[in-house]
Amino acid sequence: MSTFPTDGAKVYRRLLGYVLPHWPAFAVAIVALLLVAATEAGFAAFIKPLIDGSFVERDQRIIMYAPLVLVGLFFVRGVAAFLSSYAMAWVGRKVINTLRGEMFTHLLRLPVSFYDRTPSGTLLAKLTYNVEQVARATTDVITILVRDTFTVIGLLGWMFYLNWRLALVLLIGAPLIAHVINLINRRFRRYSTRIQDSVGDVTQIAEEAINGQRVVKTFGGQAYEQGRFDQANERNRKLNMKLESTNAASVPVIQFIAAIAAAGVIYMALQEVERSELTVGGFMSFIAAMMLLLAPLKRLTKILASLQKGIAAAQSIFDFVDTPAEPEPGNKQLARAMGAVRYQKVSFRYQEDSELVLHDIDLAIKPGQSVAFVGRSGSGKSTLVGLLPRFYDVSAGQILIDGEDIRSLGLQSLRDQIALVSQHITLFNDTIANNIAYGRLEGASREAIIAAAEAAHAMEFIRQLPEGLDTMVGENGVLLSGGQRQRLAIARALLKDSPILILDEATSALDTESERHIQAALETLMQNRTTLVIAHRLSTIERVDCIMVMDKGRIIESGSHGELLAKNGQYANLYRLQFQDD
Ligand SMILES: Nc1ncnc2c1ncn2[C@@H]1O[C@H](COP(=O)(O)OP(=O)(O)OP(=O)(O)O)[C@@H](O)[C@H]1O
Ligand SMILES: [Mg+2]
Repeated sequence: MSTFPTDGAKVYRRLLGYVLPHWPAFAVAIVALLLVAATEAGFAAFIKPLIDGSFVERDQRIIMYAPLVLVGLFFVRGVAAFLSSYAMAWVGRKVINTLRGEMFTHLLRLPVSFYDRTPSGTLLAKLTYNVEQVARATTDVITILVRDTFTVIGLLGWMFYLNWRLALVLLIGAPLIAHVINLINRRFRRYSTRIQDSVGDVTQIAEEAINGQRVVKTFGGQAYEQGRFDQANERNRKLNMKLESTNAASVPVIQFIAAIAAAGVIYMALQEVERSELTVGGFMSFIAAMMLLLAPLKRLTKILASLQKGIAAAQSIFDFVDTPAEPEPGNKQLARAMGAVRYQKVSFRYQEDSELVLHDIDLAIKPGQSVAFVGRSGSGKSTLVGLLPRFYDVSAGQILIDGEDIRSLGLQSLRDQIALVSQHITLFNDTIANNIAYGRLEGASREAIIAAAEAAHAMEFIRQLPEGLDTMVGENGVLLSGGQRQRLAIARALLKDSPILILDEATSALDTESERHIQAALETLMQNRTTLVIAHRLSTIERVDCIMVMDKGRIIESGSHGELLAKNGQYANLYRLQFQDD
């Protein structure tokens, strides 16, 4: 089709690629649609012998068989209509299914940065609404294009066969009438939108009087406001009356024009009957065909709009599917890392054109050591540890695990080395056991899950739940308390048993009892692992091998707890402040 832009054609072709695998069902739908079109024209054609045979010639055979033919015609039509709808829907649903599947697969492979800039509502709308819209538009468009085009051809063909002069007049005259009706319709509509636009004043004036009532009262503005309001109120009434009369006039005016046109056709047709060029049945049949033409023609004129809607929706889906997935430049596989972590001159910014969030970070952590990061909110702690599992890639410098640049490792292999307990704990709407043995831990033995839960000090509360490990946690674990959720996250990390651990402690206030449980769980978790911990609990901090104090994206102090206290710098300050609080 030459009427829509080339990329529209490209999108449509790509979409048809999804239909192609289902061509047998598609072919059934097309054949059924052709059959529907044939019965439509057939119905118009049937009227001629019906009327001429029965009413005019009183042919007994026709009087006998006409009802049967009618029933047969509608039977065929019904079966064909059902088949075409069913087969079309089948193809459409298959396409929706495939598109959704592909989108979801892609969703899981997109980088964190994509989620930063795309609202989840937009994504969900694409996955649900847009996909439906695409399938609807494509199947509707094809249905209309095939069924209605052939219906129109069939009916016109029959009309030409009946009386070509009359048909020709109609073929030339109809677009003219349609054009006139369209013009009048549009004029009416333009007029009524213009009126509608000017109806707003009443609310505006009332709103001012309501919000400004203190001023109105103290300055005695009642008479002024009343005057303004009455004026607007009256104007509103007049405008609305205009609107009503316009709307009320439009339908009869258009119907009247259509009636004049119809009268013209009937007049000419009757002339043909008079000249014996048309039988009575032929006349009736011709009028019936003319009536039957209206609906498919109307649908065909609207087809371009639905086509464009569908293409726009498809375009947005394909744009999504085409956004690059997480980059995976290297594919080296690590078995189990020793757990040496090194940051070399690492700088990072979230967007190309934004400020640096991390400046020249240098640090080296030996296997099994633990390092704590402390510092003000927004100093870059979560950002720093988030670079290790490559949620984002460094802007400058490099990060090494066991001497390998993490970008040279396969993403899965890299992430297999790391367990993460993040600031925002995520639980899935599933059982406790499945939440602990999540993802690649699926298939862990019941004993292993219990051991992890035990070590995370989670079994204590799990045992008290009615269904123990098989209790559903609700959407994002709403049925559990904050401390209980944290312990499940720790159990999950324990079960993963990876050489590197990232702990982004939540700052949520816990009672001392839960605090003690979680502290004990964390200590178990940190044993024999390289740990990067963002610590808020003093007890966690005191026990780590090294503390890094961060400020505005830089490490400004580092050393052990004792060393830093002796230094009497930033850390000593922070410590004293927190100590006072506690
Ligand atoms: N996804 C993001 N996109 C853009 N900027 C971000 C993003 N996440 C964090 N930032 C910015 O980076 C800076 C560091 O944030 P980060 O989350 O690393 O701080 P933090 O030290 O972990 O703070 P907190 O103790 O409150 O958790 C902040 O200025 C923040 O506004
Ligand atoms: Mg943080």
